[in-house]
Amino acid sequence: MRKAIIAGNWKMNMTPSQGVDLATALMPLVADAACDVVICPPFVDLVAVGEAIKGSNIHLGAQNMHFAEKGAYTGEISADMLKELRVEYVIIGHSERRQYFAETDETVNKKVTVALDKGLIPIMCCGETLEQREAGITNDFVSGQVEKGLSGLSAEQVENVVIAYEPIWAIGTGKTATKEEANATIGVIRKTIAKLFGEKAAAQVRIQYGGSMNAKNATELMSMEEIDGGLIGGAALKPEDFAKVVKF
Ligand code: 13P
Repeated sequence: MRKAIIAGNWKMNMTPSQGVDLATALMPLVADAACDVVICPPFVDLVAVGEAIKGSNIHLGAQNMHFAEKGAYTGEISADMLKELRVEYVIIGHSERRQYFAETDETVNKKVTVALDKGLIPIMCCGETLEQREAGITNDFVSGQVEKGLSGLSAEQVENVVIAYEPIWAIGTGKTATKEEANATIGVIRKTIAKLFGEKAAAQVRIQYGGSMNAKNATELMSMEEIDGGLIGGAALKPEDFAKVVKF
């Protein structure tokens, strides 16, 4: 059985002090959660928020990292830097990073590989545009992203990856994929993993849905067989809402 995982992607929201307030409000609300709970604040919040959630059941994640060990990469953050802050998860290849910061399947693959080598759990994102869905190429496109993103990894490594299926047209739009749509595409992702890495890896890998998932629709999305969790944007900024998703 795969353990559900609900992660909050705060994106570029919350100053460090606001982040501490949000995390502090969240802690008692999710203390008895049955699933893995992760919050991913901006880099500059990680120290303060990490300190605030110490001893709680909330795990810390980052929203990005660079694949190089260290060096002349102005403005970037390495896996070792995150590790020292007790960061356990890192979102890789979010569609906003692909769209606005020129991330490609190749950089995603390098980052996922380094994250695993360094003992971080990557939350690798994939998902199609509305045009791609309407053109009927969702399955091929998303499978291709997953294949390239996981290229060169062993089956054992893939078991530890979390994949977030986030249809771009559902992100921040209030337009959620239906539970059937989300379940079907996540099923295709799992089949792709079975083909590339074997049935065991496919059965173990956790695949989240993301895109306007919230307190109202979490229960029905999480009732689907293939959906193992959620990557939550807007609703993760409201403690009560995020707690309701966590308790789907
Ligand atoms: P929303 O929940 O705001 O649609 O964002 C989803 C997302 O992009 C999470 O990474």
